[in-house]
Amino acid sequence: MAISDPTAEAIARAADLLRAGGLVGMPTETVYGLAADAANDVAVADIFRAKGRPVDHPLIVHLGDAELLPAWAEWVPKEAIALARAFWPGPLTMILPKAADVSELVTGGQTTVGLRMPDHPVALALLRAFGGGLAAPSANRFGRISPTTAAHVESELGDAVPIVLDGGDCQVGIESTILDLSGASPVVLRPGAISADAIAAVIGRRPMQREDLDAGADVVRVSGALPAHYAPVTAMQLLPLSDLMAAAAAGHGERVAVLARAPMPADFDGIWLRGPHSADAFARALYADLRALDAAGCARILVETPPPDEAWRAIRDRLERAARGAGARDST
Ligand code: TXA
Ligand code: MG
Repeated sequence: MAISDPTAEAIARAADLLRAGGLVGMPTETVYGLAADAANDVAVADIFRAKGRPVDHPLIVHLGDAELLPAWAEWVPKEAIALARAFWPGPLTMILPKAADVSELVTGGQTTVGLRMPDHPVALALLRAFGGGLAAPSANRFGRISPTTAAHVESELGDAVPIVLDGGDCQVGIESTILDLSGASPVVLRPGAISADAIAAVIGRRPMQREDLDAGADVVRVSGALPAHYAPVTAMQLLPLSDLMAAAAAGHGERVAVLARAPMPADFDGIWLRGPHSADAFARALYADLRALDAAGCARILVETPPPDEAWRAIRDRLERAARGAGARDST
């Protein structure tokens, strides 16, 4: 794999590669994506192969311009237009009824398609040079921690991807909010940086949260919604600070790796990463922190339970799934 500075020439070469059916590691403001021509099933099949992802898990199609929405959606509700105007380019994916010619490989056999316009200059330049839609899941092995640097992509996918455009550290750091607009009422399928309140302020009604809906009702396949996901290899637990301090002090002869907002106690002997107090900054650093803790060779990772506020919802979601998926070398 070559990590490439995003020069005009490198972007033109990457667009050529995409047109020829190749895969490109693409920076976005949320996490790095593994991009392929969404209109080329052979190329899209390579994404699933490179990630080790089951083919019934749909991919998000990335667009360089909101004007392209009608080419991908059978119909575009007024609310989608208002949300695109408010939040695109940005970390909001909208699920809409798919246009007839959108590949079922992209949609995981569903009648809907996920669409988003990323807010990263390199992604937008690549999309514009390419011209069409790019299917791009996060550029990690299925079930693992999403990459927020070009080096993370390299360590996840190695030679399965010929080129990664280096767009620096992702500024949002966790995946986009996914809003399902294909049904009677909007539903947040995956929480992210765009909150339900921010969405409500634009469309005048509050979307439901998938986690509040009856499990089993109207189930959509969202791999990010599998109970175990975003997971380190080391076993991981979420604990309130007092329990975490007690567990860290007890030790049981094991070294532990900690992510907490509190400072490291003087007598602690292990790895202690201090997470920022603001949710935005915590999210930005989260996946790099989890990777560092995972690489520390400790017996366990202990993470301080995030605050209960709405601003921390997406971080709680990722940490809970990471804790459930952690410790399994072969994720399902
Ligand atoms: O921030 C992001 O969204 C990143 C960057 C690269 O854009 N992408 C990303 O892709 O997180 P991925 O594939 O790791 O997660 C996309 C999620 C999956 O959980 C998938 O199931 C869901 O979007 N999804 C895609 N199309 C869908 C659809 N038609 N209906 C329901 N869920 C869908
Ligand atoms: Mg993913």
